[in-house]
Amino acid sequence: MENDVSLLSSPGVPRSSQFQNYDVEEQGCSVFSGKHSYVARTCCVVFILIICLIFLLSVIFVFMQRPVDLNSQNASNSSTNDSLIESTSSKPKFQSLLTSRRFTFDQLFSGKMFLTDSYDYIWLPDGSFVHMKIDGTVANPRISKIPLGTFETKPFMSRIEYARSLSSDGEYAYASRLVNEIWRHSAERLYHIVKITNGNVSSEQWHVGPDENSLIQAFYWNPNTSSHDFVYVHNYNLYYQRDPERPDSAIQLTMGGSTFNRFGIANWLYEEEILEVPGAVWWSPSGRYVSYLRFDDREVNRIFLPKYNDEDSYVEYFELPYPKAGVLNNSLVTQYIWDSENHKIVETAPPNELSSSNGNYYVLTNKWITIPKNASDLGEERLITVWTNRDQNYLYYSLCNEQDCVMILSFPFRVDGRQLWVQPRDVIGIFPTESGFLTLLPHSHEDGNIYNHVAHIEMDRTGTGKITRWIGDNFDVISIKGYSKKLDALTFTAYGDGIGEHGIYIVKEALYGSQKNTLHKVSELFDECRSMTSPSADPTGERIVVQCEKPFDNTRLYLVDVADTTKRILLDGGTKAYIPFEIPIVKFGKFPLPSGIDGHYMLMKPPNLQDGAKIPLLLDIYGGPDSKNIVSQYDIAYARIDVRGSGGRGWKLKEQVYKNLGEAEVVDTLDMVREFLNNVKFIDEDRIAVMGWSYGGFLTSKIAIKDQGELVKCAISIAPVTDFKYYDSAYTERYLGQPSDNPVGYSNTNVIPHARNVTNVKYFLAHGERDDNVHYQNSARWSEALQYNGVHFTQLVYANEAHSLSHKLHHLYSEIQRFLMNDCFNSNLVDFL
Ligand SMILES: *[C@@H]1O[C@H](CO)[C@@H](O)[C@H](O)[C@H]1NC(C)=O
Ligand SMILES: *[C@@H]1O[C@H](CO)[C@@H](O)[C@H](O)[C@H]1NC(C)=O
Ligand SMILES: *[C@@H]1O[C@H](CO)[C@@H](O)[C@H](O)[C@H]1NC(C)=O
Ligand SMILES: *[C@@H]1O[C@H](CO)[C@@H](O)[C@H](O)[C@H]1NC(C)=O
Ligand SMILES: *[C@@H]1O[C@H](CO)[C@@H](O)[C@H](O)[C@H]1NC(C)=O
Ligand SMILES: *[C@@H]1O[C@H](CO)[C@@H](O)[C@H](O)[C@H]1NC(C)=O
Ligand SMILES: *[C@@H]1O[C@H](CO)[C@@H](O)[C@H](O)[C@H]1NC(C)=O
Ligand SMILES: *[C@@H]1O[C@H](CO)[C@@H](O)[C@H](O)[C@H]1NC(C)=O
Repeated sequence: MENDVSLLSSPGVPRSSQFQNYDVEEQGCSVFSGKHSYVARTCCVVFILIICLIFLLSVIFVFMQRPVDLNSQNASNSSTNDSLIESTSSKPKFQSLLTSRRFTFDQLFSGKMFLTDSYDYIWLPDGSFVHMKIDGTVANPRISKIPLGTFETKPFMSRIEYARSLSSDGEYAYASRLVNEIWRHSAERLYHIVKITNGNVSSEQWHVGPDENSLIQAFYWNPNTSSHDFVYVHNYNLYYQRDPERPDSAIQLTMGGSTFNRFGIANWLYEEEILEVPGAVWWSPSGRYVSYLRFDDREVNRIFLPKYNDEDSYVEYFELPYPKAGVLNNSLVTQYIWDSENHKIVETAPPNELSSSNGNYYVLTNKWITIPKNASDLGEERLITVWTNRDQNYLYYSLCNEQDCVMILSFPFRVDGRQLWVQPRDVIGIFPTESGFLTLLPHSHEDGNIYNHVAHIEMDRTGTGKITRWIGDNFDVISIKGYSKKLDALTFTAYGDGIGEHGIYIVKEALYGSQKNTLHKVSELFDECRSMTSPSADPTGERIVVQCEKPFDNTRLYLVDVADTTKRILLDGGTKAYIPFEIPIVKFGKFPLPSGIDGHYMLMKPPNLQDGAKIPLLLDIYGGPDSKNIVSQYDIAYARIDVRGSGGRGWKLKEQVYKNLGEAEVVDTLDMVREFLNNVKFIDEDRIAVMGWSYGGFLTSKIAIKDQGELVKCAISIAPVTDFKYYDSAYTERYLGQPSDNPVGYSNTNVIPHARNVTNVKYFLAHGERDDNVHYQNSARWSEALQYNGVHFTQLVYANEAHSLSHKLHHLYSEIQRFLMNDCFNSNLVDFL
């Protein structure tokens, strides 16, 4: 069987044309030029707003103020073939305002107009920082290296496509060409390897895979800095190759891989909800061991995604195993360790409590550590595996090698008697220390709340662990960025305790110094840098990259020394952005809500608003796309909010939606609208619209049903969930439990019986028919109910489009714009056409 033979028809059609890569229309802003001169006249306003808030994070709005001839923009070609462009972050999420995936101008309009905003860099295993800059043309990138311990820039390599893919010894590098995009993160590519000598690339190339046209699904160099062997996944099987110059010498480690039975490459569920990367392969630091997961979906029920094309007079259906909430047969996962010394593969059993659960458990991550001195009886290296039960409210840490496993610790996810859920993203970061490791776990704070704090888990001789230290304050830590054993210094990011902030913290003497830790907020050392991100620290934890983000200005990129933060250099973004329009005014604030919490908001209003003017409000509720190119020139206020259910402020807010999605959020959102009306005099109470994507689309429908036009006059739901029994097991059960245990919680998420309540509100619904994530089924059932009940609404069905609607965004946005201006705000603002 070639590739994943999961198509029901047209066996002759190559896989490459089957999925997502076809019929790419409307790249760029072509909709805005030429024939649609009305849009040309309206011009676009470009805002690029990068706001990392405590709860409203990294939002980039792209509004254009004048027509842009996108054909003159070549920036989309400037990315190498390695970079996958992710167009929206539009999955159901509790914390989507918190995610810092940014929707850049490049991605949306294939051109970079005003901001130098996205930077490309990597760390080498020795702690060197490598900075890649593309100045104008791909042909002339500047790739420089700043070795650890200095701030001196040295030339590094000439070819950008190889600079980020060096083998650990630096002697080889690979480049790849995208052939098929699969899901949000996954793709199949053609790889080749070259030899690198003093930064020069050999003319000779070697393919990766059994033959020249082998599609590779994942590739991992051995991390040992004296080696250049690697493993890769091809056709759902794992291979090992010692000599990069001899593709025929590769050893196939697994047999029987197929799209329904995958070795080392995640299935849909794991890619989307757990690992958030396609590969499931982990080398040990010495290079002796490789662990990998197998995903068995053979018993999982399938969905079928339609594809329409010219070649075939029948519709093709793509078959995807997709376990929905409460199904009997969830995806099965098995973990293996391959020992490269004696070529033995062993399966590592799940913890006893889980092994009797019929496969109803998840592996959240793997992390190999060099065994700390404390656990000296356990050999040189072992694998930490984080396991959780199907309901995701117990956590288990095991420590395995090829011979045996011990339990480090396990516990129910319950703090102070409050039941919590395991958020995979929180626990996947594991940083080894001298005596154990660091990760994020919930911890009760003296203010009565429970926050995600850094936990130090130390192990004794036998590997039994206990939490010996907590580091944190009255806010959630978002993620650990680095830990330096040499400096005993920890870096992490957190929203801090202000609104609209996002900071980096450094903790010195983190583990082995005095008992009391001091958290140093790095942002305070920088001018105008309330919002900073750090994608990573170097592998030694001694330096970090800091990105200072500011609305409507270039993001400044610094390299900063952890031990002494006054040692730093500005690498990029030092110039003021040229923004050829008046920038809107952005305000952050909070309103106390009847539910007892503070609702946080970001409100953006046009500059030069006249006294007494009343303008519409567009409330973009979470889950929405991180970008809009709509309507800013039409004097409109734009807001985002964070209410119950949102993250960053501890479990007190999050736990209120546990087992009952879409209730507290709706109440609070409507209360926030009331507060806006009471407190913000320029908002016109007759022109309030709510819009949301995915989870936000679900809430938008719930709001329409509940409010019935009292406050919210227009509702825009994009790719909404309309009943959580249609959504996947791992996500849905994490928050709602099993349908049999929580029938009311589930039925409360079902909006379909309430179609009749969609009255006095103008309702707009859009969904991709080929949505692998939130299935079109949701909108199909919902629109059917609306039709049955005689509800007037507008519906757009995007054939051949998935959840992000990525190839039709310009159509979508211009339709939303028309809906808002013509139907909804019935504009007396401007003559639109
Ligand atoms: C864009 O690409 C075209 C051809 O691909 C080239 O002729 C043109 O000079 C490029 N423009 C810029 C601004 O790089
Ligand atoms: C981008 O690259 C493609 C092929 O790689 C080429 O056909 C297209 O003309 C390029 N676009 C621009 C604007 O240069
Ligand atoms: C990128 O892909 C194009 C074809 O799509 C190919 O011609 C080019 O060589 C690739 N570049 C790299 C660096 O792989
Ligand atoms: C790398 O290329 C440069 C320029 O072509 C050349 O001067 C240098 O000797 C080369 N280095 C090696 C190791 O071949
Ligand atoms: C790297 O591999 C070599 C050869 O297998 C081994 O001797 C060395 O100890 C390894 N390095 C580390 C850091 O484990
Ligand atoms: C679930 O798996 C069992 C075997 O483990 C199989 O007999 C059954 O048909 C599966 N159920 C579904 C709905 O596929
Ligand atoms: C681990 O070793 C450190 C010293 O390196 C010691 O302070 C600590 O108590 C030990 N932890 C455990 C759990 O034995
Ligand atoms: C639907 O409308 C009725 C009548 O206004 C109301 O009583 C009911 O609570 C609404 N249903 C929902 C789910 O809000």
